[in-house]
Amino acid sequence: MRDWFAARAKRLQISGIRKMFEMAGPDSINLGLGELDFEPSELAMKALADAVHNGYNHYGPTKGIPELRKALAERLTRYRPDVEMDNIIVTAGGTQGLLVSAMTLFDHGDEVLTPDPGFVIYQPHVIMCGATPLRYSLRFENNFQPNPDEIQELITPRTKAIIVNSPNNPTSGILEPDTIKALRDIAVENELVIISDEVYDEIIFEGEHHSLLNPDYDNVVYINSFSKTFALTGWRLGYMASSKYMVNQLSKLQYYNIACPPTPLQKAIFDVMNAPTNSVQERVDILRKRRDVIVKRLNDIDGFSCLKPKGAFYAFPTFDHDISSEDFAMELVKSGLICAPGSAFGKGGEGHLRFSFANSLEMIEKGMDVLEKVAATIPRKN
Ligand SMILES: Cc1ncc(COP(=O)(O)O)c(C=O)c1O
Repeated sequence: MRDWFAARAKRLQISGIRKMFEMAGPDSINLGLGELDFEPSELAMKALADAVHNGYNHYGPTKGIPELRKALAERLTRYRPDVEMDNIIVTAGGTQGLLVSAMTLFDHGDEVLTPDPGFVIYQPHVIMCGATPLRYSLRFENNFQPNPDEIQELITPRTKAIIVNSPNNPTSGILEPDTIKALRDIAVENELVIISDEVYDEIIFEGEHHSLLNPDYDNVVYINSFSKTFALTGWRLGYMASSKYMVNQLSKLQYYNIACPPTPLQKAIFDVMNAPTNSVQERVDILRKRRDVIVKRLNDIDGFSCLKPKGAFYAFPTFDHDISSEDFAMELVKSGLICAPGSAFGKGGEGHLRFSFANSLEMIEKGMDVLEKVAATIPRKN
């Protein structure tokens, strides 16, 4: 038979998280998914129905409808006071913003630095563009901060960009201001683009979010999404921000990729953003309680150690049991608990499991009961 498939498709592997879901039974406790268990607010649902009834059903501008782009620019002035609507492109979720950035910037022969462990799509996107991903590590011992010296050592004349993610999936670490400064200095010195995935920037439990979008460096592509903050994963809407010369190139790829983002959803999101209260803080307060419960339960299990997440909604404990993270996650799935093996996020994730606390307190407690029982049956390393 003819070999139909492009090298880019053949080089990709199915995500290790997907494998867990394929094995899971219908009544499993799901702490595997990066998705809040809330429905959209009444306000959001009404705004969408209104948009559809008020004629927002046609193609719109490639970069997004102007009123939404203006509102997003206004929001981003908290990080960079000179952001204007011309710096913004609305995308079909953070995923599509990341892909358009990769397609605009990466060529065959380029090298791109990606976090390890890191969100599962960064490396495949680099590979799909024919470039080579090189991993930099985020270690538990280092509070999941990247080590600037390690990054410096990975840089070659071919290095085009560095992808950073704060708050981070899967570690839930946030980049500290000193680390951000060190990364920016490296980017300036080596003329690297920084692709900064900040889709969890409003899900912060302590302190404040520090953005890479900053007047000190123009070559930043900032990625955000409405999926996490507004619990609207299925609406597939996000946005990116960058300098105008970057936006001109990005928007060409955006046109040939999706023509324009979905019009009624953009109008609905615009209305939600303009509402006097949009319940983001309420959701963060609920998540903080869930975080405190799951972290305590994890640290009470022999052999487990979990840092307290500062943002996002993942607990990423280490374990000292004599088993790979994939096999451990398989054992848990067999007992009715879905989580993600750390190795699904790169070699640096081995020795960890990722539990999402975007699920209810009841499910978290039940899930931890399963983990406690299963963990007690697995031999420890020492
Ligand atoms: C770090 C990170 N970036 C981007 C995304 C993509 O989100 P979406 O495409 O739903 O906006 C996710 C989703 O889990 C994520 O965890």
